[in-house]
Amino acid sequence: STKFPIRNRVDCHPQPGASPEVCEAKGCVWCPTTIANVPWCFYPANGPHGYTLKDAPQKTAQGWRVTLIKRGTISLFGNDISPIVMDVEFHTKDRLRFKIYDPNNKRFEVPLNIESSSDVSFEPNYDVEFVNDTVLQFRVIRKKTRTILWETTLGGLIFSNQYLQLMTSVPSTSIYGFGEHEHPSFKHDMNYVRYGMFSRDQSPVALSNLYGVHPFYMCIEKDFNAHGVLLLNSNAQDVTLSPSPSLTFRTIGGILDFYMFLGPTPENVIQQYTEAIGRPFMPPYWSLGFQLSRWGYNSIDVLEKTVERLRQYDIPHDVQYGDIDYMERQLDFTYDKANFAGLPEYIKKLKNDGMHYVIILDPFLTKDEPQGTYRPYELGQELGVWVNNSDGITPAVGKAWPPGDSVYPDYTNPKTAEWWTQMCMEFKNVLDYDGIWIDMNEPSNFQNGQHPGCEKNHLNYPPYVPDITGGLLAEKTLCPDSKTYLGYHYDTHSLFGWSQAIPTFYASQNATGKRAFVLSRSTFVGSGKYTGHWLGDNFSRWRDMHMSIIGMLEFNLFGIPYIGADICGFNEETTYELCLRWMQLGAFYPFSRNHNAIGNKEQDPGVFGEEFAAISRSALRIRYSLLPYLYTLFYHSHVSGNTVVRGLMHEFTSDPQTHGIDRAFLWGPALMITPVLEEGARSVYVYFPEASWFDFYTGEQVPPSWLKKSVEIPAPLDVIPLFIRGGYILPIQFPARTTVLSQLNPFSLIIALDEHGEASGSLFWDDGDSIDSVERGEYSYVEYKYSNRTLKATVIKNGYNGITPLAYSSIQILGLTSRPNVIFMNGKIIPSNRMKYNSNGKITLWISAPLLQELTISFEY
Ligand code: NOJ
Repeated sequence: STKFPIRNRVDCHPQPGASPEVCEAKGCVWCPTTIANVPWCFYPANGPHGYTLKDAPQKTAQGWRVTLIKRGTISLFGNDISPIVMDVEFHTKDRLRFKIYDPNNKRFEVPLNIESSSDVSFEPNYDVEFVNDTVLQFRVIRKKTRTILWETTLGGLIFSNQYLQLMTSVPSTSIYGFGEHEHPSFKHDMNYVRYGMFSRDQSPVALSNLYGVHPFYMCIEKDFNAHGVLLLNSNAQDVTLSPSPSLTFRTIGGILDFYMFLGPTPENVIQQYTEAIGRPFMPPYWSLGFQLSRWGYNSIDVLEKTVERLRQYDIPHDVQYGDIDYMERQLDFTYDKANFAGLPEYIKKLKNDGMHYVIILDPFLTKDEPQGTYRPYELGQELGVWVNNSDGITPAVGKAWPPGDSVYPDYTNPKTAEWWTQMCMEFKNVLDYDGIWIDMNEPSNFQNGQHPGCEKNHLNYPPYVPDITGGLLAEKTLCPDSKTYLGYHYDTHSLFGWSQAIPTFYASQNATGKRAFVLSRSTFVGSGKYTGHWLGDNFSRWRDMHMSIIGMLEFNLFGIPYIGADICGFNEETTYELCLRWMQLGAFYPFSRNHNAIGNKEQDPGVFGEEFAAISRSALRIRYSLLPYLYTLFYHSHVSGNTVVRGLMHEFTSDPQTHGIDRAFLWGPALMITPVLEEGARSVYVYFPEASWFDFYTGEQVPPSWLKKSVEIPAPLDVIPLFIRGGYILPIQFPARTTVLSQLNPFSLIIALDEHGEASGSLFWDDGDSIDSVERGEYSYVEYKYSNRTLKATVIKNGYNGITPLAYSSIQILGLTSRPNVIFMNGKIIPSNRMKYNSNGKITLWISAPLLQELTISFEY
């Protein structure tokens, strides 16, 4: 063991209670160390573990098949399976699947259909190799650079009934992703950090398993190529990141089903990932506006007063929420006719003002209302749509918000989807909502397991419990041996939120006749096709602002770009300065909503007085002016899987200094947001990667001496520093109090030139809330290109037939080297009183030109 480097140790005793005896009995090496986190019991280089090839790999139509048999007789957790089969499938030139399963017994598989390319003539960008040494080695290699992306030589593969383990070396320590967790840096710490994954009703605290499950990571290789890997498995699991560097995956059910995406850019990785799991939904335009919520308005008067003061201060406000206090005694599909008397009329009024209303729905229904009074439960009971106890017949009964005890809809059952849709449709006649917020869908239960508690059996108490908070699978949820349509809750638990999002998406669409809007707390791989997410019950603390950026970046990697955190913080009391800085940061969350917990002081942007309101208004007006750019990013996300929010690492991958940056972020490639995240701070340190950068407010170019350095930038209380990257054209629009109004306003372009005097960009435009306008071709798409001192707008697609004529009213160009003599628009000279040149290289032109037509502006010197 002395020859075995400490950083290569892989934990052979992941559960508590290791000792020299137990360790050696497992064929592992015991060697205590004082170095923190390093395992004391670890796999030897060549121990009696793992599997070996039964016979030579066979070529299959899609790749390779190997049959593996277990070496040795040591079993870590009992019931080892042998033989097992590994299928390697070449899906596309950039996507590889390797799946290890039991050929003799069908085990649980995640019901996400990831199809391989029907064309098999591609030349893959990867190679795979099997080496039948004493321990089987499997390698995936990037062909172009020969980088080994995966090598499973670090220890034994284990494939037993309730314990599946695989270790692999990875080519670098720049690892991002795995969710849902809160952890202090976007780039992972590889010092034996272990993350549990099992959906859980859990406020974001460091390293705990949270609401959703995303066993997906992205790795930046040493030469800056990027790849991604998904483990498609929904069982309780954990992953350990070790310094060698390596990853150890441990899951307690299902199969080992890995997908690898070759990139080679981070953006390519996410495009390829979402091509497999489903592209993000196209959000309605109004859902890009500012949203306000709280738990505990408790009365319609307070709600109305709150909305009214935002109005008085002219703070943009598009969406108002109803949390569970709008309900009668927290019963889904009811509203409180006493404290919220007149709510239906009030919602109509908000909507007449161009606002939208979103209701919360919880996934539990009380079974204890008097008979004949609560139809949602009674109909569900009649149809048999609930999660059942282990007998598969009687409903599982837990405790949640509603009075009495509750049952849980089993959304994996198609009958449940029908019942749910019907309830949502019927309720639309009561409250005229525009979108549905689905909460508590981990699913949450206020006790451990249903009545009368979980039986002692192998599902409820498996031999290995992954590193999850509480150490008990049934904690705050249902017993694992509960039955759902697709299988045991043991297997489907983490799919609950995902399975609820799908019918809720269609229910929202059918009920409103408009584009769906769903916001879900629990998510799984593939959820982004149907829902957005918020980062849950955060705290009103400065640290949580920083954590929200990391969470937002991660969810963009998970294919859920519609993401944000509760602005000003949910738990605990906020403060003036924290809330103000958070309003500024939150103005740049794709999902921008201020939300608060019951009992806390009010924290909406209208409650802190004039100065606060003015600063919030100005941040939100910047957001609203940039919405055409943001909406276009969502279009690219919907059709090509692009991220909306990105880390600097994502765009400047070959600059290692960007790899650890998570206090600044980008909207698409072109806008850098550098919020203040510290109390009392009146400046921020901004790292400027090699590019042309322009101050958003002045158009001033960042001096070359600032590039590749961290520079202190002033940020007085009323300013969130923003920078535009040269080379890009951003379509913008005059802001208004709601997006319904701002959508009609004049447009403008910000053209930020790169060092060659060039820039490009695009605009996606449609009516903002029709169902499938992209798929139906009912949209317009304009491409902008500035080169050779000429701007050209080319209409690539002209399918949007709005009645209101839309027009450009101005153009700004940043980064000119001198003042042009004459400017032509579509061949005609622009009068000199219609232009203004600043000595800092910025020119503004006031023009009048239709938005969705060709446009040429040329500059002569
Ligand atoms: C938990 C959610 O995370 C929170 O946002 C909501 O306010 C409460 N449930 C009450 O519905």
